[in-house]
Amino acid sequence: MRNRTIAAVICAMALSTAASVLAQDSGAATYKSKCAMCHGADGLGATPAGKAMKAIPFNSPDLVKATDADLVSATKNGKGKMPAYAGKLSDAQITEVVSYIRTLQK
Ligand code: HEC
Repeated sequence: MRNRTIAAVICAMALSTAASVLAQDSGAATYKSKCAMCHGADGLGATPAGKAMKAIPFNSPDLVKATDADLVSATKNGKGKMPAYAGKLSDAQITEVVSYIRTLQK
């Protein structure tokens, strides 16, 4: 009985790791196809479109401090010249792309 519980716990841990790796992969794919043309592969916004529209670098202190909810809502509703993605990306895709953006802030 005890062994089974341990096996179940290990299994659950392995599954959740796999799920978060997958989520990060698809966040990266969404980012590359929808966001990188302005924000740049590195998130610094140093692309021609990013510079023209003044895309804020993701590693700026304000965005590092911003909560996930802030970044999700900016992505959904747009901000300044940043297009809104509500209806174009699912909530799950937006959450994944925001967790990918977090990896660009390090
Ligand atoms: C057409 C160019 C463009 C594209 C494409 C684009 N962005 Fe932006 N983004 C901007 C600009 C410009 C800003 C700065 C907006 C401002 O502060 O006025 C911005 C700002 C942001 C911010 C910061 C908002 C804040 O609170 O200051 C986030 C988060 C963001 N973008 C996420 C994304 C994600 C995720 C995608 C892809 C799904 C994306 N952007 C695609 C131009 C773009």
